[in-house]
Amino acid sequence: MDFSLVSLCYNVYMELHKPVMLNEVLAVLQPKSGESYLDLTAGYAGHAKAILGLTENYKHSVLVDRDAFAIAHLRFLREKGANVMKNDFYGAALKLLECGNRFDMILMDLGVSSPQFDLKERGFSFAKDGKLDMRMDGTQELTAERVVNHFPKQKLMEIFVKYGEENPKFAGKIAEAIVRQRPISGTLELAELIKSKTHAYQKTHPATRIFQALRIFVNDEIGELEKTLPLVPELLLPAGRVAIISFHSLEDRKVKEFLKTEGARGLEARLRVLTKTPMVAGELEISSNPRARSAKLRAAARV
Ligand SMILES: C[S@@+](CC[C@H](N)C(=O)[O-])C[C@H]1O[C@@H](n2cnc3c(N)ncnc32)[C@H](O)[C@@H]1O
Repeated sequence: MDFSLVSLCYNVYMELHKPVMLNEVLAVLQPKSGESYLDLTAGYAGHAKAILGLTENYKHSVLVDRDAFAIAHLRFLREKGANVMKNDFYGAALKLLECGNRFDMILMDLGVSSPQFDLKERGFSFAKDGKLDMRMDGTQELTAERVVNHFPKQKLMEIFVKYGEENPKFAGKIAEAIVRQRPISGTLELAELIKSKTHAYQKTHPATRIFQALRIFVNDEIGELEKTLPLVPELLLPAGRVAIISFHSLEDRKVKEFLKTEGARGLEARLRVLTKTPMVAGELEISSNPRARSAKLRAAARV
């Protein structure tokens, strides 16, 4: 991949970047001057910039992402003194705990960033002709190409049902068609194949669920979340706050269950849930940033 060209596109793009539910995140995290901040999905620093602008505590704040392009973009905050870590958030959380780091605020804004999604080279979008890649971390071995062109039919079907919540009948048909047609060379070819095997009239593009499934599987998104959530209370200072934004029901279910279980531990509880029901974006935000439509924000405070 041409790093300089992609970086240039990213920089132009970032001028237009809008962090999702920023006002709501600020309302639940309540950043105060001098407080420390851990951003486990720092991306293009939409949230981080706003929060660090309020706390001005760069030195005790850590920004994590596993995407090299995001890390390159975060340089401007490193120059102000923030600590930037290229790592998956589970690995980063373990390292931070090992070193005894604790924070007043933690944010997890899950899933892919808009630049990852919008750049066809990354292969996340079924609307653009790209390679079957879908890795957030470009150094990772497993790609969508490997899954699509080499995994057995049964495994593909399982991935589509588990991570795309696809109807098993369609998942089977699509897996069958993939196995018959491979090698599949790119995202558009895959999207067309899926379309040809599903109902023409659906609210969303027929490839939406299959692409979501592949992306979640390739990046082990649910596994990362499941392993990291239990570490969050340990990473918070007393009275510290955590906010978690999810974009699909699989993630939101994990976050909801985790907070419910924590909250139900009585005197042993480490977290107090701040959002009985998830907060969602307002119509105004959705009209200017359609990606916000599926966002759900849950928050809790360390007891
Ligand atoms: C929705 S974006 C975050 C956007 C950011 N809040 C902003 O305002 O610019 C999610 C980011 O998290 C990163 N990410 C997702 N899962 C991750 C994981 N398990 N470990 C580290 N980074 C992850 C992605 O690479 C992406 O840059």
